[in-house]
Amino acid sequence: MFKLIDNYMIVPNIHLLTVEAPNVAREARPGQFVIVRADNEGERIPLSLSDWDAEKGTVTMAVMNVGKTTSRLAELEAGTSMPTVVGPLGNPSEIDEFGSVLCVGGCYGIGSIYPIARALKEKNNKVFTVLEARSSYLMYWEEKLRGFSDKIIYISRDGTHGYRGHVNQLPDIIESLGVPIDRVIINGCTLLLKKASDATRPLGIKTIVSLNPIMIDGTGMCGVCRVTVGSKTRFACVDGPDFDAHEVDWDELLQRRKSYMSEEAKPLRTSGCEKRGCLTTQPVVR
Ligand SMILES: Cc1cc2nc3c(=O)[nH]c(=O)nc-3n(C[C@H](O)[C@H](O)[C@H](O)COP(=O)(O)OP(=O)(O)OC[C@H]3O[C@@H](n4cnc5c(N)ncnc54)[C@H](O)[C@@H]3O)c2cc1C
Ligand code: FES
Repeated sequence: MFKLIDNYMIVPNIHLLTVEAPNVAREARPGQFVIVRADNEGERIPLSLSDWDAEKGTVTMAVMNVGKTTSRLAELEAGTSMPTVVGPLGNPSEIDEFGSVLCVGGCYGIGSIYPIARALKEKNNKVFTVLEARSSYLMYWEEKLRGFSDKIIYISRDGTHGYRGHVNQLPDIIESLGVPIDRVIINGCTLLLKKASDATRPLGIKTIVSLNPIMIDGTGMCGVCRVTVGSKTRFACVDGPDFDAHEVDWDELLQRRKSYMSEEAKPLRTSGCEKRGCLTTQPVVR
């Protein structure tokens, strides 16, 4: 069992879970993920590592409430235990002296881009970090990211913070930085990854995305996380999750992620969430 050290809502619909998992914390690298279960009856879901403390033996994940398991995770109280926290899984992100790197994070990806920005800065890169959200109140970890970023840039869809719009603003942002960008790294939901990939393709800048197809075992055995990259079949859990964005078959990925939509909606209907129009319980706001 894995003791939950802390669990709170950092912004609406996103919880930060800190769990005691010393073996994972000791081996964790930026870009890796864990597979967790909220309870003994629950399904296994993948979550990226947003932070870890090898000395304390803890790992932290930013969890966006989108369905049954993520809502169940949000309800867990500090002090209780989770039956499964397996990892670290997946290949670590490539961290090198690239020069100037643009790190882009949206929704839970604001959390998972943090260890990547930190590692890039420690390799003496110039790090520009873009936080993308629907509105300013959905942005978090700005201070943490500022510690490892030469500049933070904001994109909000309602224009309440920084650029108004979506990641299609990336070409303007890159031009405004006044230095050539050697690599773009993007973490977040699939639509954000695709839109950002579309935005950087005409610029010819190498763009890396952390893909999030449906996963079950996370060890290359079940085949569920199959994606097509560069016309080849790859398994995101063992060959990724990072891939060259400009080689991903986005239409296939978006289609496959919707495979179980009617089943996923059932527990929400049962819990009355569909009727109320909400997707989350809200235990603690700090
Ligand atoms: C490598 C990786 C890292 C991820 N990191 C994070 C993270 O740090 N924070 C975060 O909030 N989310 C992350 N996700 C997405 C997260 O796993 C899904 O949102 C979660 O599984 C949804 O489960 P649910 O029961 O709450 O929702 P459901 O109602 O079951 O599903 C909602 C949507 O989530 C996707 N999904 C469902 N089951 C899975 C599954 N087993 N694996 C992947 N996607 C699934 C489907 O597209 C579905 O339409 C990551 C996914 C991957 C593959
Ligand atoms: S999750 Fe089963 S092969 Fe990747």
